[in-house]
Amino acid sequence: KRPAGAPDKALAQKVTKVGVIGAGLMASQFALLFVRRLQVPVVITDLDQGRVDKGLAYIAEEIGALEAKGRIGSDEANRLRALVSGTTDKADFSDCDWVIEAVFEDLAVKQQVFAEVEKHVSPTTILATNTSSLSVEQIGEKLEHPERVVGFHFFNPVAVMPLLEIVKAPATNDATLATAFATAAKLRKSAVLTADAPGFVVNRLLAKVMGEAARAVDEGTPVPVVERALAPIGLPMGPFELIDLVGWAVAAHVQDTMVSKFPERFYASENMHALSKLAQVVEKNKAGKVTDFTKEAKKLMTVGKTP
Ligand code: 3HC
Repeated sequence: KRPAGAPDKALAQKVTKVGVIGAGLMASQFALLFVRRLQVPVVITDLDQGRVDKGLAYIAEEIGALEAKGRIGSDEANRLRALVSGTTDKADFSDCDWVIEAVFEDLAVKQQVFAEVEKHVSPTTILATNTSSLSVEQIGEKLEHPERVVGFHFFNPVAVMPLLEIVKAPATNDATLATAFATAAKLRKSAVLTADAPGFVVNRLLAKVMGEAARAVDEGTPVPVVERALAPIGLPMGPFELIDLVGWAVAAHVQDTMVSKFPERFYASENMHALSKLAQVVEKNKAGKVTDFTKEAKKLMTVGKTP
């Protein structure tokens, strides 16, 4: 059955090679999904070789884990390994017919990344963005061919979460949209078409939950109490555990976007911003593991706040 809003699948273009921009955790997770489900070459890029290598190492480790669990045989594991490569040169994307980005959530950065990719690829190469809350229309508006830009928003953990938000900008054409739906089906994700509105659908709701959980902490309820108190409403994990999963910086950014678009409806916690900055410092200095940071973060959020 054709998903609501999806064009005729006969319009879908073939995807024979995938380019992934950004080798962070989210991008590495979906790079693995693309190679596993599409069985086509996947090339990943980032600002420097160190980041590319980290992404490649994550993918190699996950392929090893799938093999160890018996989910894939050793032939398949070797085939997948051979299909994944890394580069720091976007010219290596020239024969990609699908490029997807998951770089820093900054409009100017995303615009610039796509403008650079556009110089190297064919005019019909799909440019998909995994943005969590920026405008897909604005991400594509400076391009020569904005009709090939589409939102393709995954959820953490990518291998597990079944949903994918496909976002159509006013310029997005039917061939692009049909290719996005066909690709989502190959990735075995359940795709929904959402409007190009801040936070699309899921992050709009999550920003509400995370913002109100942070507000409860700011008002004096300790983090573990908020985590426990929210369990009965049916969340699969507590709001702070979820923030940890998606990353403090990403969560704070989603909050900021929602607050700037709808100041009367969303809450931005200064505490959360402080913690997101701290998370970035920890990441930068490689001074501690994320789990150590989490423990510290939770302590910090409760300092002086316990009633
Ligand atoms: N990364 C990769 N795989 C993971 C994982 C992770 N962080 N966490 C769990 N898994 C895998 C496990 O390996 C296991 O796989 P297997 O069946 O192959 O062994 C499978 O998931 C189930 O694991 P568990 O038994 O530990 O699963 P749980 O029942 O504890 O559920 C969960 C784990 C699926 C993460 C669940 O807690 C959940 O659904 N949490 C909410 C996640 C959510 O809301 N995500 C959306 C975040 S918003 C977002 O990403 C958008 C962005 O723009 C901000």
